[in-house]
Amino acid sequence: MNLNATAVVTGAARGIGLEIARKLISVGWTVAALDMLEDDLKRSATELGYNYRPYTVNITDSEQLAEVSKAVGNDLPPVKGIVNNAGITRDTLMMRMSEDQWNMVIDVNLTGAWRVTQAFMRSLIRAREGSIVSISSVVGLVGAAGQTNYAASKAGLIGMSKSLMRELAGRGVTVNVVAPGFIETEMTEKLPEEVRSDYLSRIPAARLGLPVEIAEAVAFLMSSSAKYITGIVLPVDGGLTT
Ligand code: NAI
Repeated sequence: MNLNATAVVTGAARGIGLEIARKLISVGWTVAALDMLEDDLKRSATELGYNYRPYTVNITDSEQLAEVSKAVGNDLPPVKGIVNNAGITRDTLMMRMSEDQWNMVIDVNLTGAWRVTQAFMRSLIRAREGSIVSISSVVGLVGAAGQTNYAASKAGLIGMSKSLMRELAGRGVTVNVVAPGFIETEMTEKLPEEVRSDYLSRIPAARLGLPVEIAEAVAFLMSSSAKYITGIVLPVDGGLTT
């Protein structure tokens, strides 16, 4: 299958972003994989083949993004999808949080998504079709101690997306948010056993989610089956926030 369309996926070198790239490629998208991790991008490109097109870029840098946007526009099929997945944490209690720790997380998770969306959205508007999906978190819905910066960035993505939805709904472009719960990744692997079992006791599905389960939700929101779904926040969390 070839959709003759490109999806820009940030943070696509590893983890959930890599699974999203894999899934989108399997349903016919060309993926422009944007990440800072050059080696991981190379390794993933070897694994996923020609339709995974790696671009080394820091999404906090507007100039780099403008160059990548130009290169993608010249080299790849028209951009009709944007997935804002890149994200970082700098956890600590608010009492101890430095302004740098606050700013860094907001700059990557929220302003980064804004920059990337702005750099690529013209193409979707021109095509009069496309979808923008941002990866938030259940923490953006319910909060978490030690994560005031992260929760604010993830809640911010929801406000940004709902507003952008109102700007783009009449132009055939959908704007949605996926809010993952606790997902099996390197991040959650490193958690102490007691934290892990505390999480598990709160999840009705009694297990952590898999990266591929986030990817499936993203691919659905970007498919032609979801053209009339816009402005939603879709929790993929085994019932955690219900
Ligand atoms: P990860 O750390 O494995 O992957 C994040 C990717 O983003 C990395 O490849 C990293 O290099 C890239 N990245 C970070 N800053 C960047 C920048 N300035 N410019 C370009 N690329 C940058 O994390 P994971 O677990 O795959 O998470 C992906 C998304 O899902 C994040 O937004 C995270 O907040 C969100 N999420 C993850 C959950 C989990 O349980 N793992 C739960 C809820 C949300």
